[in-house]
Parts: sequence; C-alpha cells; structure tokens
Amino acid sequence: MGRLVVVSNRIAPPDDKKASAGGLAVGVLGALKATGGLWFGWSGEIGNEDQPLQKVTRGNITWASFNLSEKDHEEYYSQFSNAVLWPAFHYRLDLVKFQREAWEGYSRVNALLADKLLPLIKEDDILWIHDYHLLPFASELRKRGVNNRIGFFLHIPFPTPEIFNALPPHEELLEQLCDYDLLGFQTDSDRVSFLDSLSSKTRVATREGKSHTAWGKTFRTEVYPIGIEPEEIEKQASGPLPPKLAQLKNELKNVKNIFSVERLDYSKGLPERFLAFEALLEKYPEHHGKIRYTQIAPTSRGEVQAYQDIRHQLETEAGRINGRYGQLGWTPLYYLNQHFDRKILMQVFRYADVGLVTPLRDGMNLVAKEYVAAQDPADPGVLVLSQFAGAANELTSALLVNPYDRDDVANALDRALKMSLTERISRHSEMMKVIRENDIDRWQARFIADLKQISPRTVESNLQKKVATFPKLA
Ligand code: G6P
Repeated sequence: MGRLVVVSNRIAPPDDKKASAGGLAVGVLGALKATGGLWFGWSGEIGNEDQPLQKVTRGNITWASFNLSEKDHEEYYSQFSNAVLWPAFHYRLDLVKFQREAWEGYSRVNALLADKLLPLIKEDDILWIHDYHLLPFASELRKRGVNNRIGFFLHIPFPTPEIFNALPPHEELLEQLCDYDLLGFQTDSDRVSFLDSLSSKTRVATREGKSHTAWGKTFRTEVYPIGIEPEEIEKQASGPLPPKLAQLKNELKNVKNIFSVERLDYSKGLPERFLAFEALLEKYPEHHGKIRYTQIAPTSRGEVQAYQDIRHQLETEAGRINGRYGQLGWTPLYYLNQHFDRKILMQVFRYADVGLVTPLRDGMNLVAKEYVAAQDPADPGVLVLSQFAGAANELTSALLVNPYDRDDVANALDRALKMSLTERISRHSEMMKVIRENDIDRWQARFIADLKQISPRTVESNLQKKVATFPKLA
C-alpha cells in the first residue's frame, strides 16, 4: 500500500506548536505516521503564488505548503469559503454574500492546487481531502487523470436541501463531490442531508445502504464522528499550574466558575449565550456574587464583515450585562477576545465547575469533548451542551439545551451549579466512556481502512461511467 496524501486548507507544520495541538492535526498526523506521506496545504501566507512549494520533511512525513495571492485569498478563502459556504452550511442563509467572482475564484484556486499537487502524487498513494474549502478538489484531480482513491471528510454540518440548494452553484458542487470515492460526515443527519440534496437533483442508485451511484459516478458515504486524545488532555489538564493560574485558582476558590472558549464565530451562539447568562442572573439571584462566567473568544476571519459585526455585538452585550448586574468587587462576566495557549486552557477547564458549549450549529465541537476529558474524575464539572452540536449525539449525559431558548440554558446552568457530586461523577464517567471508545485514533483509522477497501478507479471504469451517466431530473 502506498503513502497517504492529506490535503487541507490549514496544515499543522511540525515546528508550529500552536497549530499542531488540535484534534484534526493529531488525527491526521497519526494517520500519516502509520503509512508515511505528505500533508499539502496553505502556508498561511499571502504573497507570490508562483513560488515553489515550501517543503519540510521529518521522518516519513513531508509538509508541502503554498502561498495564496491576495486576490485568490480574498475570493477563495474570505468570500466563497467563509462568506458563502460557511454561513450556508451552518444554516445562516441570511449571512451568505454570494458573488459570481468569488465562485470563480474558489473554482480557480481548487484547480490551481490540483496543478500544484499533481506532480507529487504517486500511483499507489491514497488521498484524504478535508473540509469545505476543497469540495471540488477530487473533481479537478480526476480531470487531470488521477485515478487514485480519494476520500473527503467534511468537518462542518451538511445542511438540508432547502438550504443547500439555495446556493447558486449547488448542482456543480454536488456533482463535484461525487468524484470522491468516500465521503465522510460527522453525523448521520449530515450524511442523509447530502444524499437528500443529491436525490433532489439527480437519480441516486444505492446499494447496501452506503454505496451510491449518481451522474454515473460511484462513491460511498459514511459517518466518522471526530474525537480527541483523552489521555493527552488528562495529562495536560492535571499538570502543575503555572504560578499566575495557581494564584487565580486560589482567589476564586469560593466562586463557581462557568467557562467557555471558541473562535469568535456567529455559529457559536455567543450573543444568545450572554443573554442566557443574563437570564440566569435575573431568575436566580442566589448566585449573585458567587459565580463568574469567563468567555474566551479570539478573533477569527476578522476580514469578513459578519465576523466584525459579531465582535461589536459581544463587546456591547458584555458591557451591558456587567453594567446591570456587576457590584463593587464582583464582575459576573469576563469576556476575553484573546488567544490562549492550549495547555493553559485544559488546566482552566479542569477547575471550571461548568463548561458552557452552546453553538447554534456545529459539525462536532471538540471543546465539549476536551472539557469533559480535562475534568478530575473524582470531582468533575458539568457540561451544558447545545443539542445542535454534533457532539450531542455522543455526549448524551451532558445537560443538553436549546441554545435559542435562554430560559432553557439558564435553568440548565442553575441545575449544573447545584448538581450533587454523585450525579456529576456518574454523568462524567458515562461521557468519558464514549470519548475513550471513539477517540481521534479510531476516527482516522476507520476512515483510512474504509478508503483502502475501495477498489481504485481505472481508466476503463471512468470511461464506463461516462457511458452510464443518468439523465438529470428536470
Ligand atoms: C473550522 C473548520 C476548519 C478551519 C477552522 C479554523 O474548524 O472546520 O477547516 O480550519 O475552523 O478556521 P480558519 O478559517 O481560521 O482556518
């Protein structure tokens, strides 16, 4: 069996400690170490696109990265990926800013990346492509004669046809997705939504549940909920606290801590969460002076208008709530628009009494799993989790809430703050069982094993597919 070639917009180069810490990076590296291979993606730099690829090799893995020109970055990343696909896939059609040039830029960059990767692909390599930036990537490679096995994993939700089909190029995107051999989703509802969109546009023949043919192209669909590395997180979270954190922990020993961290993104439901916290203060005055809610939300995609808007909204709300409920010597809400080191976050998770994770829509949400794994099993905190995060399918022992219902979230927070030790231990151990069973190694190993099972395409099979193309439905 050949090497593994991984393609993702962001890559985690070996010397960038910040980038290599998260779930995707750990999973992809685990898979790459097993077979040896290549990780291909954007350098994070905007500059001269024509420069040769920047390559770094460590052991049996090579990282190859490219720069993007300002125009390509704008059209492919900021506009089409993050102002069209991201909002639509998170059910926010109201935030979609579709422009034909952006779609052209997105298509152009996918083609350009296929050109750049092509000379690096060997005949028996298997390819694993990640996320919404690269929906047409297999299609571009197939056009260039690549018959290797190509798998795709979507890290974010796949919306229902009512939403997806509102995207002007939805039919092209669907047809391009069918050029992958294996399409992996976080949850079964994402998988079914994709098939529903497809069936609304063409005839889909399905065999044994998960092997499908559409537009003459055959592919499989499967569900692979992404996991974390629980042992590593336990180790990080229980390590000795840096002096500043130890001092803070001591100062807050009589205060119950509610804690959240995520990229500043409208899909995370932050304004709704602030209002739910306000509802807690309103409905349960017994907590006044005794709790503190810390929200960490570093700026993300700051060049996109919707992200600038949400930032202003949060600053206003945080100020308003503290102005209304704060007292001399007590600030109820700490909002930090900053990036923190991952290890520090795991340590802060451990002493947070409540982890509050209430996205309006989320593919998985690894923070929810990390919060649980960081807890002291003898005295764990409580996870309050949105029913609209992919993680809610697995973490059924969290307090599941509707993030649009501020009273529901406020009541769950009150319940979490008052929960007995016995109930906390039992919920935590139930969640840890699932987290351990479905960890990040299992995620990558299942995907790669399934991709390897698929017979590679041949030139003949591609020709036959052209002949067998089904007519499009009107
Ligand atoms: C989500 C996406 C990833 C993306 C990450 C950070 O998790 O699924 O593909 O890399 O957000 O976003 P950014 O735009 O900074 O890469």
